[in-house]
Amino acid sequence: MTRQNTAQPAALVVPHGAPPPSPRPLRLGVLASGRGSNFEALVRASRHGALHGDVVGLVVNTPHCKALARAERLGVGATVMNHRHYHSREALDHALVNHFRILQVDVLVMAGWMRIVSPVLCQAYDKRLVNIHPSLLPAFQGLNAMERALAAGVRITGCTAHLVVPEVDAGPILIQAAVPAYPNDTLATLAPRIHAQEHRILPIAVAMAGQHLFEGA
Ligand code: GAR
Repeated sequence: MTRQNTAQPAALVVPHGAPPPSPRPLRLGVLASGRGSNFEALVRASRHGALHGDVVGLVVNTPHCKALARAERLGVGATVMNHRHYHSREALDHALVNHFRILQVDVLVMAGWMRIVSPVLCQAYDKRLVNIHPSLLPAFQGLNAMERALAAGVRITGCTAHLVVPEVDAGPILIQAAVPAYPNDTLATLAPRIHAQEHRILPIAVAMAGQHLFEGA
């Protein structure tokens, strides 16, 4: 008997529960390099009331990526900062900090940002820089996480939203969702299952990071 890949509900793991809404709407900045489905999930969550915030700007590093087209369709201001035009990681990150400071961004989200960030960005957005990664960290850090999970034959994988520190995919975990991986899975069948959970947990993680702003207020 073969199992249907799509019929199984994914298990969601929420360590602390969803946080209460922030006292004021969070101003959110987003970094993306490709499709931008997590960017769109954040915009939709904020517009539908699931996240008390507004996405005030998108930056992409790859001209003509799909995220840019989504930003145009959704009416979110978008800027291209092509990493090839900066002489170092730090130079790009300084430009990002300047850009998002002008936009008065509270929480910055790496939503498929396929660049290693330097301490410049991590320090400027300490505890307010969130990354989404398609594995249950600390398993499968780095590139091609889903492909490597499939190759390893894991039966449970998932996604992680975490705070960013200079070590790649190593910062404090905010929230994870577990997703089954079936023996007959391919990237084409597993990826949509993981993306669906990323879209659920990322807005919660952003709200959790936003709480740091109001601690002790
Ligand atoms: C997401 O699956 C995200 O977890 C991954 O890139 C994809 C972006 O999708 N990020 C990483 O692998 C970072 N190490 P999207 O552009 O449709 O949001």
